Amino acid sequence: MQHTPPHRPAWWRNSVIYQLYVRSFADTNGDGIGDLDGVTDHLDHIESLGVDGLWLNPCYPSPNRDGGYDVADYTTIDERYGGLPAFERLRDGAHARGLKLLIDLVPNHCSAEHEWFRQAVAGAPGSPERARFIFRDGRGTDGTLPPNNWRSVFGGSAWTRLLTPSGEPEQWYLHSFDASQPDFDWTNPEVADMFDDVLRTWFDRGIDGVRIDVAYAMVKHPDLPDLDDPAGDNPYTWNQPGVHDIFRRWRSIADSYGRDLTLVGEVWLPPAEAADYVRAGELTQVFNFDLLQQPFEATAFRRSITDCLDSLKQVEGVATWTLNSHDVHRMVTRYGITRPEPLATSDVTVQRNRPRGTVDLALGTSRAKAALLLMLALPGSVYLYQGEELGLPEVQDLPDAARQDPIWERSHHTEHGRDGSRVPLPWDAGAAHFGFAPAAVTPWLPQPDWFADFAVSGQNDDPGSVLAFYRHALAARQQIDPAAAIEWLEIDRDDALAFRRGALVCVAVFDGPPVEPPTEWGTPFITSSTEGGAVATWFVAE
Ligand code: GLC
Repeated sequence: MQHTPPHRPAWWRNSVIYQLYVRSFADTNGDGIGDLDGVTDHLDHIESLGVDGLWLNPCYPSPNRDGGYDVADYTTIDERYGGLPAFERLRDGAHARGLKLLIDLVPNHCSAEHEWFRQAVAGAPGSPERARFIFRDGRGTDGTLPPNNWRSVFGGSAWTRLLTPSGEPEQWYLHSFDASQPDFDWTNPEVADMFDDVLRTWFDRGIDGVRIDVAYAMVKHPDLPDLDDPAGDNPYTWNQPGVHDIFRRWRSIADSYGRDLTLVGEVWLPPAEAADYVRAGELTQVFNFDLLQQPFEATAFRRSITDCLDSLKQVEGVATWTLNSHDVHRMVTRYGITRPEPLATSDVTVQRNRPRGTVDLALGTSRAKAALLLMLALPGSVYLYQGEELGLPEVQDLPDAARQDPIWERSHHTEHGRDGSRVPLPWDAGAAHFGFAPAAVTPWLPQPDWFADFAVSGQNDDPGSVLAFYRHALAARQQIDPAAAIEWLEIDRDDALAFRRGALVCVAVFDGPPVEPPTEWGTPFITSSTEGGAVATWFVAE
């Protein structure tokens, strides 16, 4: 059932959504971690950006071994975030301003403290309680070897062996991520039924959509075969065909509400495979992560954009762009690295998403602003990540003792992980903890002194700030006809690209001298820099 009248496209097809890593946004209750009233208190800031809605990273009760992606109870909000009353205040506050509200749904795994997993641990091998997860006997003498050679995304084996209360080793369970995040067995109908209920619970509470965590992981190859190359990608976990059935089921639940709910999948696959997730009757959106993984080069950007749009054309899907998230290093740092440090990992995705090294901040910032303006000119929807509107760099030098990402431990301290993009935001340069939390508490991750230079207080009224640029660029985007397709313009340079969308021409110079605009492009409307170097500019024909 599709309830959208044909003359009014669904809101999510052209929206800009602001991602909130709630733990790091604003702490009102003085426990050192951000909370939902902190978001409500700062709705003026979010609204001032000109976005259309918010996506909250997980706020469920959780032992927080993986920043809340280890969910202990899917049906409510953790008291540390203010519980359901704070959620309702935020929902109502957001809706009163016309902002949509998305939550994060984590269906591949739960927390080891989820009631079902506790029951599974207490249950016997072969019991119905164990059948909700992926338990297997070990291999080798006395089952001392894991059931197969799969690796956890965070490092180490993807299997952990249970011990009986008296300390006897017994079965193993699968966890694609941390050992505290057991994978569900989605062949068990109880699991699917439970998530139907979870979806309905939150839709009934008035949310406008869900972001679906690792949406391409839930279905495993039934034989759990060994991998030829355990260090490579795992085709037996990622993108198994059966996963699409789950989304057809979820889409019919979402459509039954008749109010344009969005289902946006986190799918780290090449554009052609990612596009399969937005076939008719499946998800409404799928993140396009290919663009953020490109080096800052015109040819790479153009190829990525073309691949993505061409793939989506096949399925009549709409693009969903992003350049930042809580899982990758912040873009001013990624684009500003002049001397890369060698990384211990051979994982190409990690090398692209979380590079480290010496950063030229001015270079990184000018590239990031150009990339943003280019992205905002593309057809489709956009997801921004809190702090990017301040030009915040990655915190590369967190004290080791402060690191909380499970990747740090599981990689035996060779990979820093993702904490550096999750450091609490600086609101007020002159206040304790830069206004993130009351003076008396210690924020959950330490903020470096240089965060003062990026505080909202210093940027709010400065027309030359990154914050002012974000507001200006998002306002300018309102002028673009959402229905206008993109048409590449040949400008005979491989360090620049240009395209037309309706009356608008966007030109981006990645390196080298400015492009001389032909008169038919019209007059400059907005530019990311007046100082040369990396620069994107929009022209509008009179
Ligand atoms: C997703 C989340 C990431 C989390 C992982 C496991 O990739 O974005 O933060 O660690 O899933 O849930």
